[in-house]
Amino acid sequence: MRAITVIPGQQGSVALTDMPEPPDEDGPILVQTQAVGICGTDLEIIGGEYGSAPPGQDRLVIGHESLGRVAEAAPGTGFGAGDLVVGIVRRRDPVPCPACAAGHWDMCMNGQYTERGIKGRHGYASERYRIHPEYLVAVDPVLGILGVLLEPTTVVAKAWDHIEKIGRRAAWAPEKVLITGAGPIGLLAALLATQRGYQTYVLDRVTEGRKPEMVRRLGATYVHSEDLGEAAAEADIVIECTGHLQMLLEAGPQHVRYRIICLTGVSAAGAEANVDPGLLNRNMVLQNSVLFGSVNANRHHYELAAKALAQADSGWLGDLITRQVPLDQWTDAYARQPDDIKTILGFPDASR
Ligand code: BGC
Repeated sequence: MRAITVIPGQQGSVALTDMPEPPDEDGPILVQTQAVGICGTDLEIIGGEYGSAPPGQDRLVIGHESLGRVAEAAPGTGFGAGDLVVGIVRRRDPVPCPACAAGHWDMCMNGQYTERGIKGRHGYASERYRIHPEYLVAVDPVLGILGVLLEPTTVVAKAWDHIEKIGRRAAWAPEKVLITGAGPIGLLAALLATQRGYQTYVLDRVTEGRKPEMVRRLGATYVHSEDLGEAAAEADIVIECTGHLQMLLEAGPQHVRYRIICLTGVSAAGAEANVDPGLLNRNMVLQNSVLFGSVNANRHHYELAAKALAQADSGWLGDLITRQVPLDQWTDAYARQPDDIKTILGFPDASR
């Protein structure tokens, strides 16, 4: 079967390759891939900066944002042929650690977890894959192709889940939310903010095009980077979705009202910033602020994300997908274009 693969660590190795059919030990459910979404992590893996192949293999099938249709499911799995499904990315470690043992593999404490399409396990950018039901999530058929947005939505569903858990440490009545970055993660974070009824600001560098319009259609306020200070001073919750924390930290001492700041963007090391650690410390302490990171998602977050997508305006969700590229033209899918929000790679669906 055809699959998009890389030799991890080797830039320029990405290729549409012929790979063996998925082995039975991968699970009793055979899924026909319909589409995979492409994100920054895929581009880092293609750039040789990230990712690892399954033990003993040279190539890694990439793709972790998926949508598929069940082709065959063993009885008792809870799935049947034709079901629209999304595969979970992370697998608990083999030890297992206390977090993984509790199903919180997104919080794996020893780093021995694996991630499909990213770390030590083949991904979903193949015509077919096999999976255990524990790691498969049914998607409302009404969503159709929009189900491919489930995995990125899980990332922000987890961020919101943890913000709310931290928020329960004391009486709290947040009103305003600032999201930095109007890419797919930022826009989905803003969707979940407006679903909660918060006054929401989304910051990005661009001044025109689809991103500001997508923000306004949510009933949120679009803020250009230069106007960050004011929105930042007002926000009770900040979700950072660019990987450029320094932008927030450099916005000045007016950050005193920050209560909970969640970082979701994976950044490169070595960024230089002019930050006063004393001021940061002082603000964090005197305002009881929390700065925390959030990555990946567990099954509970897939369920929360599925609900959020079901409640969202399907026209708005559809406009997040700015390009759909067929498998035969796969190289175009991985070449970023200026107006891209979410690009998806479409697989021929043999079950139809
Ligand atoms: C994925 C997460 C994953 C993270 C780090 C992200 O792009 O959405 O599921 O945990 O990369 O590998």
